[in-house]
Amino acid sequence: MPKANKNILVIVGTVRQNRASEGVAKWLMQNLPKTKHTTFELVDLRDWQLPFFDEPMPPLASQGSYAGELGKKWLEKVAAADGFIIITGEYNHSVPGVLKNALDYWYSGLMKGKPVSFVSYGAASGGMRAVEHLRQIVSELRLIGLHDEVNIPAIWAAFKEDGSIVDDSKIGQLHNLVTELDAWFDKRE
Ligand SMILES: Cc1cc2nc3c(=O)[nH]c(=O)nc-3n(C[C@H](O)[C@H](O)[C@H](O)COP(=O)(O)O)c2cc1C
Repeated sequence: MPKANKNILVIVGTVRQNRASEGVAKWLMQNLPKTKHTTFELVDLRDWQLPFFDEPMPPLASQGSYAGELGKKWLEKVAAADGFIIITGEYNHSVPGVLKNALDYWYSGLMKGKPVSFVSYGAASGGMRAVEHLRQIVSELRLIGLHDEVNIPAIWAAFKEDGSIVDDSKIGQLHNLVTELDAWFDKRE
């Protein structure tokens, strides 16, 4: 069997104090199934204090050649990855602003054809409305949004004190999502 060599960035998409994304990210990393091709690296937007996109030219015009050092490094980081799992909350029925801003730095010419999967959480919706908006955004970036999702409703009551999930059917959903993402590379090795 070939060595797993596809690096998937797991992006923690909210940054506020007491954010739920941290618990979701921990749970996800602890419950990854065995994979053939993929390894997973957690990337926390808190560690990337990106300015609101303030580049002199849009990404398509500059082809991702940015003036700002951090924006440049961020694009290099994501362009070097083979795929993504985006963890998102739902803010006013949409994508948290900090996540949208981070995605605005991605240049489609460097992101084209990379797969992306979504893990969301929220109130009754489980963050599905944020994911629907994310699907539109990633399509413009020429990424490929995969089918399987994990959506966690009533996020404030979704995890036990030890970090395990109350509704353990979510573990099976996470395994399906990761298996779909891993299988994306079956014919692309
Ligand atoms: C600015 C803001 C807007 C929100 N809007 C929604 C919403 O539209 N739908 C929803 O299900 N939950 C909404 N919530 C509740 C969030 O689902 C919940 O607070 C969640 O923990 C937010 O993610 P975070 O903790 O990672 O920031 C909102 C929370 C915030 C902070």
